[in-house]
Amino acid sequence: MLVILEDDECSLSRDAAGVVAHAVRMHPHVALGLPSGSTPIGMYRELVRLHREEALDFSQVVTFNLDEYLGLSPDHPQSYHAYMARHLFDHVNIRPHNAHIPDGSIRDAYDEYCDEYERGIREAGGIDLQIVGIGKEGHIGFNESSSSLHSRTRLVPLAVQTREDNRHFFGPNEAVPDCAITMGLGTILEARNILLLASGAHKAQAVAAAVEGPVTSSVTASVLQFHPHVTVLVDREAAGKLRRIDDYRRALDMTRKMNPRRLWGLRS
Ligand code: GLP
Repeated sequence: MLVILEDDECSLSRDAAGVVAHAVRMHPHVALGLPSGSTPIGMYRELVRLHREEALDFSQVVTFNLDEYLGLSPDHPQSYHAYMARHLFDHVNIRPHNAHIPDGSIRDAYDEYCDEYERGIREAGGIDLQIVGIGKEGHIGFNESSSSLHSRTRLVPLAVQTREDNRHFFGPNEAVPDCAITMGLGTILEARNILLLASGAHKAQAVAAAVEGPVTSSVTASVLQFHPHVTVLVDREAAGKLRRIDDYRRALDMTRKMNPRRLWGLRS
């Protein structure tokens, strides 16, 4: 894992967008895996700016979102469909048929639906760049603790903590869904490159466990340790419990000198 320490959320968002923009410019047909939540909002804002001001072209880009709440139709304001429209898709020139998000309104044949989502990823040639956030308990997508490390796209129950953490997105009288459809850990690991974003002190424990702890299904982000091309962008607060900061700085310096291509899209 290449761990990159960012000064604040703003520089993290700009660097994350830089990596995505670089991938889009180098490979106009790039397949991106996209997250939701509060953390990537700044990255999406910067991508919209790059589209408007620097002609970043999404016309051939293909996207697959990580997850969606079960029971929310795409037009529900708290659905991840609505989230993606609000933060990215309505503001760039992506073709609607190239943007894939699990459909939370399905009512049966879940396994078939999830297999079809996976087939879509395979038919697009696999995901080139998967971006993930991290939950307070260390989950990625909606792969809660005790998910199989080989899991595929599937229906999952949400942990009590996750529903609490996401409650603020919903109105006071609105129920937070208790299930979701999520890409599995095995699905995520098949992406060619993975970018993990974490911001804020409330993520420090999860980041330390994911990066420096043992690989365990109790902290599903730790499975990323198996992947050969993971870049972790953390701001100071989220890096607060990492113990090997100096090593990460040295590894970054070495990468800058010996393998600068690995850092394309990141500001120096
Ligand atoms: C949800 C999403 C995850 C996201 C996590 C953290 O559980 N399914 O993909 O990473 O929230 O969200 P936030 O960035 O709001 O802290």
